[in-house]
Formats: sequence, C-alpha cells, structure tokens
Amino acid sequence: MSNKIRVAVIGTGQRGPSHARELLGCDEAELALVCDLDEERAKNAAENFNVKYELDHREVIARDDIDALAIATHTRHHAGVMRDAAAAGKPFLVEKPYCDSIESGVEICEMAEKNNVVAMVGYQSRFTAFAQEMKALAEQIDLIQTNVSLQRGFFNPQYFFPEHYSGILDALSHTMDLALWWTGSLPVEVMGHERCGLFKPDKDAVEFVNITTRCENGQIVCMTGSMAGIQMQNIYQMAGLRGNISATERNRIRYVTHRGFEEDKTPIDLKKGEWTGSGQPPTDMWTHFAQCVKEGRTDVSPGASLRDGLAQVAVSEGAYFSSREGKAITVEL
Ligand SMILES: NC(=O)c1ccc[n+]([C@@H]2O[C@H](COP(=O)([O-])OP(=O)(O)OC[C@H]3O[C@@H](n4cnc5c(N)ncnc54)[C@H](O)[C@@H]3O)[C@@H](O)[C@H]2O)c1
Repeated sequence: MSNKIRVAVIGTGQRGPSHARELLGCDEAELALVCDLDEERAKNAAENFNVKYELDHREVIARDDIDALAIATHTRHHAGVMRDAAAAGKPFLVEKPYCDSIESGVEICEMAEKNNVVAMVGYQSRFTAFAQEMKALAEQIDLIQTNVSLQRGFFNPQYFFPEHYSGILDALSHTMDLALWWTGSLPVEVMGHERCGLFKPDKDAVEFVNITTRCENGQIVCMTGSMAGIQMQNIYQMAGLRGNISATERNRIRYVTHRGFEEDKTPIDLKKGEWTGSGQPPTDMWTHFAQCVKEGRTDVSPGASLRDGLAQVAVSEGAYFSSREGKAITVEL
C-alpha cells in the first residue's frame, strides 16, 4: 500500500462531499474516486474534486486501486453497500446512524468480524478534545447517571421520513454515541417518548424525543432532543458516586471530584476543576482510520466500532417502539 490510502466516497449528496474535502487535507489518506447512483451528482462531485466517478458501488469495491470506502449514502441504503464491502473484505468508514435495523446491523457486524474487515462508524465527535476529556473524567467519578440534551434548528428535507432514525434522532445519534461511550457499557433497556409530525404532519419524522436507557453496568442514560431548540443550550452532565461533570457547550467543562460524603453530607476531599478547549472535530478521524487500515487494525478505538454503532441503533429503535407500545423495550446485543 502506498503512503496514503486511496479512498472512494460512495454517495455524493450532502455528506459525501464533506468527506471528500476532509480527505483533501489528510496526510494518511487521499480521495481517489466518487460514486453515486445519480449520474449528475456523481459527475458534479467528480468535477469539483478532480477525480473519476463510478455509478455502481460494486464496481468500486472490485477495484484493487481502492483501499477503503467512505459510505455516505442515506442511512436506509448503508446496509446494502456495507454488506458488499464486508463480503469482499474491503475496509469502510460508514456514516452514522450505522444501519436502519438491528437485524441488518448484526448481520454486517458478523460478516465484517468473520472477514477481519477494518470498519468504523463516522462519529467524528469522539475525536474532539472535549469528548475525550469527558471520557477521562467519567472514569474518575464512579459514574451512575448521564444526562444529555441536543437542541437543533430545523433540518433539511432529506431528514423528514417516518423511520426510527429520522428527524432529531439523526443528529442525536452523535450525542447518544458519546453518552454510551462515556458509560463504557451496553444498553439493556430503553424507554422512549416521541412526538412526530407536528411541524410536517405528512412526513411523520421524530421532532421531539426523550429517552431513558438502562445499561448493563446499572448506569442510567437520559437523552433529550428537539428540532425546535433555537436559543436552547445543549447539555452534557454526568453524576457519580465520586463527583459530577457538567458542560453546556463543547468548549468548557466544570467538574468536582470527592471521596464520598461524611454523615453530615459534607463531601470528603472535594476538588473543583475546569477544562476549556476545543469542541471542534479535527481531521483526526480520517488520519486514525487510515492508520487502522494500513495496519489491518480491526480494533478502531477510540473511533466507533460497528458494535458501538449497533448499540446506538438499538437505543434509537428501542425508543421508537417503546413510544408506540407504551412500555420499556429490552435490548439484547
Ligand atoms: N457525520 C455527520 O455529521 C453527518 C452529517 C450529515 C449527514 N450524515 C449522514 O450521512 C449520510 C448521508 O447523508 P446525506 O444528507 O448526504 O444523504 P443524501 O440522501 O443527500 O445523499 C445520499 C446519496 O447517496 C446516493 N446513493 C444511495 N445509494 C447508493 C449506492 N448504492 N451507491 C452510490 N450512491 C448511492 C444517493 O443517490 C444520494 O445522492 C446519512 O447517513 C446521514 O445521516 C452525517
């Protein structure tokens, strides 16, 4: 393999061109090709990025001069492309949410694991200094409860559809992945409340959502999100037996640590701390993934593995059915 891995971007809608731009600035990977079923889109992207294009992802997977794929199709089309890549042993970075159903997600995880395919879900937020600091702090406080909230303005039309990963859940998947990563545990039970189709009744997308998840290690994760959150703050809070962590945006964290409480409720050895830094994703995601591909490293941490992606999909799908059936949903991963 040459110094840089050669990447083909599959899907040149909104997100595919962002990957293409990131690849232009990456020392470990380069854009080699773009592919879209829609010839006009493929051709435009090829002209913009000065590369060739293909229309059929299977032709791309079959090419020896392509080392890895960036799969940026609509979420409902990820599984088909991933299945072909995993079967052929071609490394891939797939956009979030990982897939549109638990069944296809499990099948693809198993195929990729069997064929030792280097595969990662594109949760770029994990590569921010903010997320890594939150992870390090979470490990110090005997974490019990995580509360996160994502408030967004209105979305582009392609996010309005009735499935469980629609509307606010598309963006909340990033926050959900972070919260599950910080807990270091798998979800086992999900309770969700959703309000759909209030802004666009004909589309029935998830516009407001509250989810409570119980994890294998007993931790509780509460997530909330809305598509009408203009002027509202995002929230990232963690409470533990030995401290608490709080951030309202991604560039500043306040925390306390202690060794428990005296009988009069005074915290023992209370220490206060503050972190300020960057919440912006660096280009490290592609650098990291390219290094994993070069070394054939299937453990892509701190990037999100397909199993991590599956855990997020299980919460999202669980919340959808819980909200409709009015009961908690058991998750078995
Ligand atoms: N990580 C992020 O911050 C971020 C941001 C935006 C979108 N996304 C995710 O990126 C993905 C793509 O989003 P989008 O808004 O660009 O979607 P989109 O619907 O605008 O574009 C998808 C493109 O994929 C093409 N396509 C579908 N199947 C194909 C196939 N088999 N081969 C080649 N092309 C195919 C379609 O023709 C379309 O042009 C989604 O999963 C979305 O959730 C992630």
